[in-house]
Amino acid sequence: MKIHETAFVVSTYRSYHEDISKDGYAKLWNNTATNALIPDILKSVSEHEAILHSLRNRFFYERMNSFFQQNEGGTLVNFGAGFSMYQFSFDDHVSTIEIDKKDIVDYKKEKVDAWIKDNKLPHRDIQYTAIDFNQNSVDTMVSSLLSILKKEPTFILIEGVVFFLDRQTTNKLFEVFRQLQKPGDLVGVVTYLPEVENTEVYKRLLHYFDSHNDTGDSFMHQTIPDEYFYKINGYQVKENTDEFEMVKIHVPTHKIKNREEILNETMYILEKS
Ligand SMILES: C[S@@+](CC[C@H](N)C(=O)[O-])C[C@H]1O[C@@H](n2cnc3c(N)ncnc32)[C@H](O)[C@@H]1O
Repeated sequence: MKIHETAFVVSTYRSYHEDISKDGYAKLWNNTATNALIPDILKSVSEHEAILHSLRNRFFYERMNSFFQQNEGGTLVNFGAGFSMYQFSFDDHVSTIEIDKKDIVDYKKEKVDAWIKDNKLPHRDIQYTAIDFNQNSVDTMVSSLLSILKKEPTFILIEGVVFFLDRQTTNKLFEVFRQLQKPGDLVGVVTYLPEVENTEVYKRLLHYFDSHNDTGDSFMHQTIPDEYFYKINGYQVKENTDEFEMVKIHVPTHKIKNREEILNETMYILEKS
């Protein structure tokens, strides 16, 4: 499986549960190739994946929406944005900088521009930047992002991405965030904790990736311990929760016995100090 296919898969998950994800635009990305992949993932990895990804989206949607409402706008800087569509659900005082690999950014811009023209999406101020996080230095990333960042405050989102990066690149990105942001600005990040590695469902996920990685598009499988987020230079943890807790709040009828049964991701909101 190529990394960009994972972006189509999570977007399709969100479209299955619009009431939970609050993403009414995800379905624009649906396509037959991704629809064909999903039943096998739900069967061979975990049947809960679509709901959990929709809850993850809901968590960040709510946190970003209240941040931008309190500040009467600002900029969402979305690292590894994939096909996420948050900006179209926020009001038009919010600008967005979308960062991803070149093929994703080019494809997304072309499709989004056409959908705006056809009135399938509302007009928003969006800048697209192609950056490979593994290949660019802190200075290069900071200077290119500062040159297009026009509206403060910023909410940086890095969702569904650090799993595919190594620790060195993750550290580099947090240094980029520190240089871009001002006190009070926020970062939203999601990770698997190392405890997840012991679960059968995580082993099934890795097996799925290994057995479907016939494309040469190899990537890391990173988990990050909780304490990492409490030691990031220049940031304080403002909030953290996980998908297991989100299920209890938003879909209490969806029965999950324990954290070990699901691919449980942990979400953090960090505040620049
Ligand atoms: C699973 S998708 C998540 C997309 C989106 N954030 C979401 O939650 O829907 C992972 C995204 O990270 C991007 N990505 C992974 N490694 C990257 C790298 N080294 N540089 C830039 N983007 C990267 C992929 O291209 C892909 O769009």
